[in-house]
Amino acid sequence: MSALLPRTHLCGELRAENAGQHVILQGWAHLVRDNGGVLFVVLRDKSGTVQVTVDERAAPEVWEQGRRVRLEYVVQVEGTVVDRQPGMANKDMGTGAIEVLPSRLTVLNGTRPLPFAIGGKAVEASEEVRLKHRYIDLRRPELQEKLMLRSRTAMAVRNFLSGRGFTEVETPILTKSTPEGARDYLVPSRVHPGQWYALPQSPQIFKQLLMVSGFDRYFQIAKCFRDEDLRADRQPEFTQIDMELSFVTSDMVIELCSDMIRHVWQQARGHAVGEIPRMTYAEAMRRFGVDAPDIRFGLEHTTLDWSSTSFKVVGDALAAGGICKAMVVPGAAESTSRKQLDEHTLFVKRYRLGGLLWGKVSGDPSLAASWSGPLSKVEIDLLQQIPDVSSGDLVLVGAGPKAHVHAGLGRLRAHIARQRGLVPEGTFAFCWVTDFPAFEWDEDNARWVAMHHPFTSPVAAHIDLLGTDRMGEVLSDAYDIVCNGYEIGGGSIRIHDSAVQSKVFAALGLSPEDAQSKFGFLLDALQFGAPPHGGLAMGFDRWIMLLAGTENIREVIAFPKTASAQDIMADAPNVVDPAQLTELHVANVAPVVAEREG
Ligand code: AMO
Repeated sequence: MSALLPRTHLCGELRAENAGQHVILQGWAHLVRDNGGVLFVVLRDKSGTVQVTVDERAAPEVWEQGRRVRLEYVVQVEGTVVDRQPGMANKDMGTGAIEVLPSRLTVLNGTRPLPFAIGGKAVEASEEVRLKHRYIDLRRPELQEKLMLRSRTAMAVRNFLSGRGFTEVETPILTKSTPEGARDYLVPSRVHPGQWYALPQSPQIFKQLLMVSGFDRYFQIAKCFRDEDLRADRQPEFTQIDMELSFVTSDMVIELCSDMIRHVWQQARGHAVGEIPRMTYAEAMRRFGVDAPDIRFGLEHTTLDWSSTSFKVVGDALAAGGICKAMVVPGAAESTSRKQLDEHTLFVKRYRLGGLLWGKVSGDPSLAASWSGPLSKVEIDLLQQIPDVSSGDLVLVGAGPKAHVHAGLGRLRAHIARQRGLVPEGTFAFCWVTDFPAFEWDEDNARWVAMHHPFTSPVAAHIDLLGTDRMGEVLSDAYDIVCNGYEIGGGSIRIHDSAVQSKVFAALGLSPEDAQSKFGFLLDALQFGAPPHGGLAMGFDRWIMLLAGTENIREVIAFPKTASAQDIMADAPNVVDPAQLTELHVANVAPVVAEREG
């Protein structure tokens, strides 16, 4: 019964050179137009579309089948490629110079009415409807393009790393809690009542073990699982290009990864990435207020010494140990309304900065009379500390606890740049950020926590500071790679000396027993001839977002989760059969919500 014929070409491949050829094509009916005397079916497959024209030259059976075709029907066409009539070429279509005249047309399958259109009009359905029918949404050429880019990029990564002596090794998914600091996804064990596996937040420990085993250079395109609040660039299940190398310094890792970025951006986008600048964490925070700065535009910050001011809000903030910083928005005095200034204030409050002081400059900025707004109440000699102010500029100042000033002004910088169209399109601004503090103070739990993970090596000169009251000064041999304001990768040189590792655990308040129970197998391994080693993991989904020019991580993942971590197509998570729970020795303590809203 099979009417299926061997395909000779993909739809989107056909060109004027193919005119006169006999072809067999299969695909979906992307557009159907019946003009009475002529029936056009635009056939689509993964390569693109081609016009199939049924006219007076077609046999009656072809007409009969052709008239059955509806949008998204699966169709097979056997026919001849011909040049289009003069004046009928379609320049917007790769195959627009030709059309196919069918000698046989077969409907291979029909479809139920579609929840949204693929061809023709722009996609109007909500993201929710599209995610529910993801298999249909994935037919859209834009999404296919992104997943093909993803595939090509993975191939470029594999080629590059294989060429540099890396071995691809898979590591377990059912494992034990790993140290990346998010909540774990847990899996109950049936065989061991009351015991649980954790899904890996990263292959961190295993890749270090592979170095102890002598693999020298490891990589894996690895799935990672983290139960954390989602954002536009975060998924609970995401992919890393995970790497680890033996006998390397941070400079060596940075150089190799810079080469990999150059290779991949060239292969995937034909984009030449030059020398990638480096800056320390301290410099990034000072100039941009964030550790993943977008350096495609200016609006840099300046730290002000305004401790002598009589302006109360600022004076009080500085007296309480805070900082005061300014950002100049060139030429924005007139074009920024009071309403927008109020919005900016609300914006920074989201990052716990108490408020924003603004000043507009009209005339010579060294004269008090040129300043208007709250900043006009600040002493003019102190205002002179703000560099590069000109007539017509808007100046914004934030004062308060360091972390709040940095977060508020840092995010506002990117927000204003976007609002004012200061962000150049189509460029990639990479930078390495190095010399991170090894530890940060966790205010809620009043203890030091590792800024990366506890296996990160402190810089050699700071090892003696571990466990002292100068913990906050300890820098780590860690590095992040940033592009256009996204952290697209990060790693470090690891501790390979078990004595230093124990010292770090002690400084983090982790008892030897706790450390042993959490990471014992790594601590043991470090005592069996561990080589010096280090590595890094690239956020592969974020790479593809950048390469594809999208800001939504869901666009580059075939079957993503929603912002509330659901798969609304597969209906996961879902309620399971109570018998399954019993078998797993698990009981629900919270009331079960069986029905999903909507
Ligand atoms: P880290 O936690 O910095 O390091 O992760 C590495 C990179 O992975 C990406 N990333 C994410 N992407 C999407 N969704 C998420 N939820 C998400 N979380 C992280 C980021 C990040 O830079 N084991 C260490 C690496 C190492 O030290 O070698 C690690 O996982 O782009």
